[in-house]
Amino acid sequence: MDDVANFDVRKLLQDNTLSLTQKMEIFNNVIEEARRQKIYLFFRTTNGPSQDHITATSLETGKPTDMVMMASNNYLGLTTHPEVKRKTIEVIEKWGIGMAGPCSLNGNTTLHQELENRLARFKHCEAAMIFPSGYSTNIGVLTAILGKQDFFIGDELNHASLIDGARYSMAKRLVFKHSDMADLERCLKEVEKEPGQKLVAIDGVFSMDGEIAPLRPIVDLCKKYKAMLLVDDAHGTGAVGATGRGSLEYCGVEGEVEIVMGTFSKAFGCFGGFIAGSKALINWLRHFARSGMYTASVSPMVVAACLASLEIMEKHPELVRAVQENSSYFRKGLSEMGYEISTHETSIIPIFIRDRLKAYAIVKEAYERGLFLSLIEYPVVAQGTERIRVTVMATHTRKDLDFSLNLLRELGKKYQAIP
Ligand SMILES: Cc1ncc(COP(=O)(O)O)c(C=O)c1O
Repeated sequence: MDDVANFDVRKLLQDNTLSLTQKMEIFNNVIEEARRQKIYLFFRTTNGPSQDHITATSLETGKPTDMVMMASNNYLGLTTHPEVKRKTIEVIEKWGIGMAGPCSLNGNTTLHQELENRLARFKHCEAAMIFPSGYSTNIGVLTAILGKQDFFIGDELNHASLIDGARYSMAKRLVFKHSDMADLERCLKEVEKEPGQKLVAIDGVFSMDGEIAPLRPIVDLCKKYKAMLLVDDAHGTGAVGATGRGSLEYCGVEGEVEIVMGTFSKAFGCFGGFIAGSKALINWLRHFARSGMYTASVSPMVVAACLASLEIMEKHPELVRAVQENSSYFRKGLSEMGYEISTHETSIIPIFIRDRLKAYAIVKEAYERGLFLSLIEYPVVAQGTERIRVTVMATHTRKDLDFSLNLLRELGKKYQAIP
């Protein structure tokens, strides 16, 4: 197991003496060996709905096994909510499955407009635009508003979609140390006198660390240096803040951020993404965000599902409270056992094992014993910061949480990850 689990993928990627074909062959052999040893923990198959309890295929026996799901972004349990399913089916019956064309030509419906208007209200903005995914939302907005003459300033732990959008935009890129306001100010000062648009972009909730960005000082610095601010609130939307309106609500900066991004792939339980902002910004994006223009419009069934999810979020703040209470119960349990975790008030709880083999062993044994966890390693996070990532849902019961905590205690001790 050690050879496979300790395989240094970064070394392989950086090895200029090997051809791509040779690299692919080496990589393929590693994956095949990991599969043979039954320790390949990626692309595990589930067969059934994505919810708090799932059925997944055992790596050991190949048989379907019931598990508690602690690795899904379905924070409010809306993927299978009866009301969401009913309204989605109704729209499929009435509208069919797709628009077969982009929004700008034949794919815009009154349903799309209704969702965009309601998202704008939810985010306290003038207007909103939906995209086929969260990833393509960030690519679209960044390439539409930045060019060669402009400056992109981002936190070092930003999501890949912000990093890629900045690259594709051709803007000059500056990176500040994670959540370090002095370093952000250093970047802003460095470009203050330069012509060109300055844009600061940040995850509202960091997807692998579960931390909430310090948005108050970031907003103040952006105002001081006349930079625009984009907050990617993929994980905050629906799960963070007193009423689930996200990290901006949590930090008290609603109405002060020019570009608010969200996804439908987390608390909404579906897929797609959106930008909320001023009418002028949204009209600009409608005509210049290529990942929204040169692609078919989001299917009406997805729009219907997202409308139903949004309605539930707004009408049932108790769901938001439940995910927050469950998360704090779980965090408390883990830290009492001696695990190193993030203390931020979100549903993403990274457990820093700081030993890749131990992390592998825990995730693998937990899986075979009915607990689905995610293993996060390089290149998703820096080498040496490999972690187990737990995500908590509103619909987890105390029994689910206690089962998961007890197993993590037992395995943590067994593999010497905790005292
Ligand atoms: C912070 C952040 N932004 C954007 C995305 C992309 O969203 P989607 O999966 O909807 O494409 C993700 C998804 O993991 C994310 O965590």
